[in-house]
Amino acid sequence: MAGFAAARECDVRLVLLGPPGVGKGTQGRKLTQDNGWALISTGEILREAAARKTPLGLEAQRRMDAGLLVSDDVMIGLVKDRIAEPDAARGFVLDGFPRTVPQAEALDQMLAARGLRLDAAVSLTAVEAELVRRLGARRECPTCKRAFNLESSPPRDGRHCDDHATVELIRRADDEEETIRKRLEVYREQTAPVIGHYRGTGRLLEVNGIGPVDQVYGALRSALGETERDRENAGAR
Ligand code: AP5
Ligand code: MG
Repeated sequence: MAGFAAARECDVRLVLLGPPGVGKGTQGRKLTQDNGWALISTGEILREAAARKTPLGLEAQRRMDAGLLVSDDVMIGLVKDRIAEPDAARGFVLDGFPRTVPQAEALDQMLAARGLRLDAAVSLTAVEAELVRRLGARRECPTCKRAFNLESSPPRDGRHCDDHATVELIRRADDEEETIRKRLEVYREQTAPVIGHYRGTGRLLEVNGIGPVDQVYGALRSALGETERDRENAGAR
């Protein structure tokens, strides 16, 4: 863990990979809150654009509701702008990007153009039955976006956000069972190959996403600590 503590002092750039419901958002929020890095969730960016009814948002809403991906060109442009914002300078965690091999290649190029590289791509894993169960029970606060789960992390009164007592939790439109199945199919066909892209570069860390949230977080921190130690050792040689 000493290595991970050292990593906090410098800018760290990570990607969280994995199927819908595996816990990318949950773990990404913990990591960035604890370390002062920016959390860049492409799903959240698209949902905010959809809520504002911008042209991008309206098109994204149609794709998301159908469980399909938004085009590579749009997503690459969006992430390129986002990682250039000041809060990303101290490090960032990408949640939900890259989701295709062309997106992964574009990320490598946009970082290289800024003289940067990715520190690690973390692949969170879980069996499909668990993903379907988690997404079916997921609820979120429309005001603060805090995530709840009716089974694993229910709100205190069963219905309202713990931090906004009058705000009723909502279910994401794409968390209906038919759309969940479509998202999993799209993941298998278009996103799973991204894992191979990172395995080929030696930057892939695989972390078991099953178990209580804090246990998964501990495994994630350990994996990152080892990466940081490897980097320090390489620097010392
Ligand atoms: P996005 O918002 O990224 O959705 P996703 O990948 O389908 O992932 P989820 O947010 O559903 O799951 P998660 O892994 O974050 O899990 P969470 O932590 O919430 O993308 C939505 C859409 O936007 C896409 O379908 C696509 O259309 C579009 N899009 C986005 N990025 C794109 C891109 N780059 N290219 C093209 N299109 C793009 O956890 C799930 C639930 O489980 C929660 O209730 C949580 O509380 C619970 N939970 C978490 N961990 C645990 C645990 N260890 N044990 C028990 N319960 C747990
Ligand atoms: Mg998410």
